[in-house]
Amino acid sequence: MLLRLEVIIVIYLENVSKTYSGGVKANDQISLTIPSGRIFGFLGPNGAGKTTMIKLITGILAVDSGRIEVNGIDIAKQPLAAKKQIGYVPDTPNMFLRLKGIEYLNFMADVYDVSLDERQVRIADLCRRFEMTKVLKNPIQSYSQGMRQKIVIIGVLLHQPSVWILDEPMTGLDPHSSYVLKEMMREHVNNNNTVFFSTHVLDVAEKICDEIAIINKGKILFTGDMAEMREHFRKNESLEKFFLELTHDEQ
Ligand SMILES: Nc1ncnc2c1ncn2[C@@H]1O[C@H](COP(=O)(O)OP(=O)(O)OP(=O)(O)O)[C@@H](O)[C@H]1O
Ligand SMILES: [Mg+2]
Repeated sequence: MLLRLEVIIVIYLENVSKTYSGGVKANDQISLTIPSGRIFGFLGPNGAGKTTMIKLITGILAVDSGRIEVNGIDIAKQPLAAKKQIGYVPDTPNMFLRLKGIEYLNFMADVYDVSLDERQVRIADLCRRFEMTKVLKNPIQSYSQGMRQKIVIIGVLLHQPSVWILDEPMTGLDPHSSYVLKEMMREHVNNNNTVFFSTHVLDVAEKICDEIAIINKGKILFTGDMAEMREHFRKNESLEKFFLELTHDEQ
């Protein structure tokens, strides 16, 4: 029997705007719905507003206007409950550098109330998959950029959040780790969860995303699923050409 999973709106943005104190309008009236069961890629050139939007969704920054909900929970009204739904990997994973890997993972497990038994199993499994078991006793300070990224990814996955929000997760990962992460992203959405990630790497987006949004200068220029993307590919030959045409500045 074929089991059809119901698609639900997991991340909901309505007319979201954010201007920094310097006057840069990083997000301008953004409305977006991100469904369950899909890998959703967020593409845009440098400075387009991707990280800003991710920080608004994760409650790190507050919106100037508009509304954001995660699993139906308003991030401004119930920030703790909304944040519990999310596993967020920032673009610069340089934190808690003095802690050893295992100390950091235990800290994260404590923060998210993961029991001792559960954390033991999950840490062992995730560290095996990302080949991090041997370095857990070393301080994060001594890790390479990719290893730091992996320990942060493992840390946020310990509480098994349903919504993964990853800012440029492939940057710095070697081919094996990047493959493992992509595989895990697919497994996660196959269980009707949600993965939302930003990337510059168009090849990655083309290969693994079910849906994409393209942002430039704080505005969403395109959203669509694979079928709609292919429609555009036919006209534009590749996602790269489509992306460049959409985001290219007329000088
Ligand atoms: N803390 C800040 N203060 C002032 N302006 C900022 C701040 N952070 C970002 N900006 C500006 O907001 C705009 C959007 O930046 P953002 O970091 O969201 O872009 P991005 O799409 O993530 O870029 P990248 O691909 O380089 O990571 C840029 O013009 C940037 O200069
Ligand atoms: Mg960014």
